Amino acid sequence: MDDGAIDGEVGPVERRQPCRVGGVSEQQRSVPSGIRPSGGQSVSARISPICAMSFWSPCPARSVAGRDRGGIRATRAGVNSYASFVRAVTFDHYLAGVVGLGLIRHWHDDGKANDDRLDELADAISKRDEFPFSLELTPSERSVEDGYDEWAASYDGPNPMIELEEAVVTPMLERRAAPGVRALDAACGTGRHAERLDAWGCVTTGVDLSEPMLAVARAKVPGATFVQGDIERTTFDDDAFELAVIALALCHLADPMPAVVELGRVIAPGGTLVIADPHPMGGVFGGQAFYGGIANGRRMTYVRNHRHGASTWLQAFGAAGLVVAECIEVPMTEQQILGDPVASFHPDAARAAFADLPSIWVWELRKPD
Ligand SMILES: C[S@@+](CC[C@H](N)C(=O)[O-])C[C@H]1O[C@@H](n2cnc3c(N)ncnc32)[C@H](O)[C@@H]1O
Repeated sequence: MDDGAIDGEVGPVERRQPCRVGGVSEQQRSVPSGIRPSGGQSVSARISPICAMSFWSPCPARSVAGRDRGGIRATRAGVNSYASFVRAVTFDHYLAGVVGLGLIRHWHDDGKANDDRLDELADAISKRDEFPFSLELTPSERSVEDGYDEWAASYDGPNPMIELEEAVVTPMLERRAAPGVRALDAACGTGRHAERLDAWGCVTTGVDLSEPMLAVARAKVPGATFVQGDIERTTFDDDAFELAVIALALCHLADPMPAVVELGRVIAPGGTLVIADPHPMGGVFGGQAFYGGIANGRRMTYVRNHRHGASTWLQAFGAAGLVVAECIEVPMTEQQILGDPVASFHPDAARAAFADLPSIWVWELRKPD
């Protein structure tokens, strides 16, 4: 398992290099001991926004279950590793992508803004061997099972995507929840929605693949029932629930249809299913379900997301006998955009890249009587 020490070194050397930063404190600009920027020297520092990166992405439907693909230790300053034929992923790569996205989205608007983006790129490229641009991120992929078993202990921390989702999903569920309503939190994870359903008096059940995630849920929501299982093949009876929610989980399935059909089976006629998922737009720009990250001393890790477009969803709903009551596309807030690591350096570029793009979408579905 990943011990988080990038480059296999513990870096006792406390060194902070000057860098252009906007809106980030000296403390935030530090990464923990053991993180080694590819400029060569170990640096004890933390860039806190990086740990909050929670982008969700396109992915070819291929399985790398159980494999850690992050064993890459080459640096730009010099080859130093057991996988020296591959370059590490460094922060300047991500930064250039975000600035470029801001440029292409608005290239026809304003030549001055275009020049600003080019200056930002030139600056990053000229300093790419310096910290923090040279900072190795080297994301490594986990299977759904391994990823969530590992993520369980820290999953309930701050997550910008969850803040967005709750603003829409909580009121949607509350409208249907009531004491005695049989409610299912499918792929419940640590029981985030189950906790609210239980508090509203629903007879609440949660199901998830990951026992460590379920252990957190059981401790948090003792009034609910949690079972380990696959949402594509549950053991629930037909029409067992009046209300069901599945949040931020169908993205992990190459094809959401079997799970949606299964949820359609267990929902009673007249019942409601709420689906929240990363919007495929985020996937186009390289988002994945990232966790860990450099701020907590662990290398950036992710579970792969699959990108499901509207036609995929509508086909699945049709196969499940569910009708769309509402679909809401939710863009990132200004605060969340400014939480992106690139915004610490170039806030206008981050705004140009991300403003108004949908980050998640939420479907409210009804099973006809
Ligand atoms: C990002 S977490 C979301 C957890 C919770 N729904 C929330 O929104 O906080 C994704 C969850 O989906 C679960 N999951 C993924 N595929 C699953 C499947 N086929 N059956 C059951 N659970 C699954 C994972 O174990 C993980 O707990």
